Amino acid sequence: MIEHTSIKSLLKGEVKAPQNVVVKGWVRTIRNSKNVNFIALNDGSTILNIQLVIAAGTDAFVICEQISTGACIRAEGLLVDSQGKNQSVEIQCNNIEVYGHSDPEKYPLQKKGHTLEFLREIAHLRPRTNTFGAIFRIRHNMAFAIHQFFHQKGFFYMHSPIITGSDAEGAGEMFKVTTLSLENPPRTNDGSINYMEDFFGKATNLTVSGQLEAELGALALGNVYTFGPTFRAENSNTPRHLAEFWMIEPEMAFYDINDNMDLAEEMLKYLINFALENCKDDLEFLNQMYDKELIERLKSVTAKTFKRLTYTDAVEILEKNNKEFEFKVSWGTDLQKEHENYLVTHFGGPVILTNYPKQIKAFYMKQNEDGKTVRAMDVLFPWIGEIIGGSQREDNYDKLYARITEMGVDEDELWWYLDTRKFGSCPHSGFGLGFERLMLFVTGMTNIRDVIPFPRTPKNAEF
Ligand code: 4AD
Ligand code: MG
Repeated sequence: MIEHTSIKSLLKGEVKAPQNVVVKGWVRTIRNSKNVNFIALNDGSTILNIQLVIAAGTDAFVICEQISTGACIRAEGLLVDSQGKNQSVEIQCNNIEVYGHSDPEKYPLQKKGHTLEFLREIAHLRPRTNTFGAIFRIRHNMAFAIHQFFHQKGFFYMHSPIITGSDAEGAGEMFKVTTLSLENPPRTNDGSINYMEDFFGKATNLTVSGQLEAELGALALGNVYTFGPTFRAENSNTPRHLAEFWMIEPEMAFYDINDNMDLAEEMLKYLINFALENCKDDLEFLNQMYDKELIERLKSVTAKTFKRLTYTDAVEILEKNNKEFEFKVSWGTDLQKEHENYLVTHFGGPVILTNYPKQIKAFYMKQNEDGKTVRAMDVLFPWIGEIIGGSQREDNYDKLYARITEMGVDEDELWWYLDTRKFGSCPHSGFGLGFERLMLFVTGMTNIRDVIPFPRTPKNAEF
């Protein structure tokens, strides 16, 4: 049986003092003096440490000589109401066992105040810092809240495949999956690589999106969502792009683009409220250390109605400001970060843009009657830019087929997707929320490498 109590539950008063308790965790600091030693112990259950008070004359006091920052220990003693004003309870510790020593000369987290850049280089140890403990606890809470949100709404969690033969976004930015020899691959008569001999008997890649499979689910189960890793081999070394990121993709039968926007707005507000209610200590820490406006910003977004407007109206606003942009805007251009920021500032909060030109969006989006635009929607957030991308889907077989051919998408890879438009097709919609973009917003971090435990970016796959 587990003999120890989590530090979180001790500090929350779930165990009545005075009482004998056991805690296990990692030493954050140790202060030695002649009569008494103090250890601040953290076990990851909360950002807060519990104070161990070790009096001279006890066995534990002698063992303290071997203990330094980073060591892992088991501590036993009497939980008492604390004398100091910084903590509610502390432990008068009479027994310590060292599970793992930590060499004070070599432990990289000896001092406080390391830069985030430095901590990225020691991603194996950075979870032990206050900052990354906070971020990863919030990350867990957001993942949990996503499942709770959809479950409460009667959505089903569907697992889309990670290895696929199709390019869901039609952007061609895929990592190949193969067991063929790179030095000497089998070739066909015309000299090209013979994927018939590959593991799956065809060319495959890591998925860029679970959407196409989610659509198959929606056309049977009604409302579904996927939540899994996605991979993009785009060589963009920016603070907002990862080569491996997690995406939440709900897909809903009988939803039009307006229902889709309503759901996206409701979900984002739910998630942010969940963080405000359930991650208080961690958010307060991040607010204090990194971003004094974080909590206010989170609250303000949940209180606002997201501004909705068409791409065409947005371009009109942006064109008036063209002289200040590095990339000039005119109807048909893809919007850059600077334009998204401008719109969000202009409207003082989140913005949802709809009806984009079809040439800058994916093949599956529902075409509007004007022949020029598609029923796309992007949700733009303060600080982040695009946090969600989605659309109503083209449910008409002929129109979808025409678009696939027009855009040169490989129809042989998508026969099953096209099939759903032949058998019981229906209006449906969905979107994709970038999980790490959400995490950037909720934590106030400015680099996406700092909100995922082990970031994958160009030239970086350590750990
Ligand atoms: O806009 P995207 O490319 O849309 C899709 O993949 C659709 N299949 C979604 C759907 O309709 N089911 O990506 C969706 C979101 C973006 O808005 C962004 O938040 C995030 O995924 N994203 C990235 N996040 C981190 N790193 C990258 N390289 C990302 N690319 C997209
Ligand atoms: Mg997008």
